[in-house]
Amino acid sequence: MQIKEVLIKDVKLGMCLANDTTNNKNEVIYRKGFYFTSREQIIRLLDEGVKSILVNITASLIDMRSSKQIEQSQEFVKKENEALYKQVDELDAEQEKVIDLYQSSQNVINDLMNNARFGKALNLDVVQKQTIDVLNSIRKNELALLSLINLKNFDEYTYTHSLNVSILSAAFAWNLKFPEDQLISIGRGAFFHDIGKAKVPLSIVNKPGALSESEKRIMQMHPSYGEQIYNQEIITNEIERGIVTQHHESFDGSGYPHSLEGNRISKYASIVSISDFFDALTTVRSYRPEVHPSEVIQIIYSLSAKKFDPRVVNHFIKTIGIYPIGSLVELSNDQIAIVKAFSKENLLKPIVELLKVENGYLASQNKIVSLMESEVYVKSVYKGEGKLVEKNIMKKL
Ligand SMILES: [Fe+2]
Repeated sequence: MQIKEVLIKDVKLGMCLANDTTNNKNEVIYRKGFYFTSREQIIRLLDEGVKSILVNITASLIDMRSSKQIEQSQEFVKKENEALYKQVDELDAEQEKVIDLYQSSQNVINDLMNNARFGKALNLDVVQKQTIDVLNSIRKNELALLSLINLKNFDEYTYTHSLNVSILSAAFAWNLKFPEDQLISIGRGAFFHDIGKAKVPLSIVNKPGALSESEKRIMQMHPSYGEQIYNQEIITNEIERGIVTQHHESFDGSGYPHSLEGNRISKYASIVSISDFFDALTTVRSYRPEVHPSEVIQIIYSLSAKKFDPRVVNHFIKTIGIYPIGSLVELSNDQIAIVKAFSKENLLKPIVELLKVENGYLASQNKIVSLMESEVYVKSVYKGEGKLVEKNIMKKL
């Protein structure tokens, strides 16, 4: 790990803290591993009287190149922008196709859970076909799928969650360049990851509030129940088995059911674990509001080397972005915007669609801008008033 002391005036968005930062009363302001994603977070350091911080250069997500190198990369930025604009242009058409995938997945997961509950055979061919459809769609337009993940619908949580985790895990593994056969196993295993919940009483699975200690213990049996279902079905794929049985294990050994640590946890299960966590937290549940996607990214960072493998955390953020697609943000010129796309080389400068507040709603200005080519930057996550005007696509879901 390369560490550098940086004066507060030189702190940039995307820098990662190398140790806990405290004020003069020795109170922790930000913990080790914290990433700066808004100017307010840097200003808070000044307010607290902090003069400098220690930055983990290796983990930081900023451009550490010299200005000459950056100048040389202007051509690269131009090309990257053109490719992203093209993807955004094609987004609506591709999303229409992806909706079919979501609708059919509702029936697939419903049948799977019912069959597993009553000990009937699972229709594996349907899941195989669905996973191949997901992978083809990711190859064609990764953004179309990732943007749909953020269109959450509380009523259909059980149905969309399995598909979302499958999409996130497959997109993540695709970015990591896993071979084709492994991608299919990861996508399938991710779709099945909670199949063991079919053996947990519905009164616990569907309980609207927080679970009691004894209910929690029963719920935590679901990875082992999943293994039993896999045994019954004689599914021998080791990647899928690892995902079903180990997706609640934690890097520091605090997970369940076997308190496995570090490298003893299947890397495939680690991929699904982080995707599961991201999708669950960004969804509204009856007992808590949704957490904003970019806030979940901060939570994931704070759990690096605890719940999650640090190597997996960094790669995951490159897939999902610091400001995930669909995030509402406030720009440095006080405009409100929604993130439409981002370059993996510059996560802090996404392509955004500008919005305006109209009668309490956030409506599109039909203007797409790339922050890579602009002085304007993301100031903060938008938390103001105004509900996003629903597009047809959301109504269909
Ligand atoms: Fe689970």
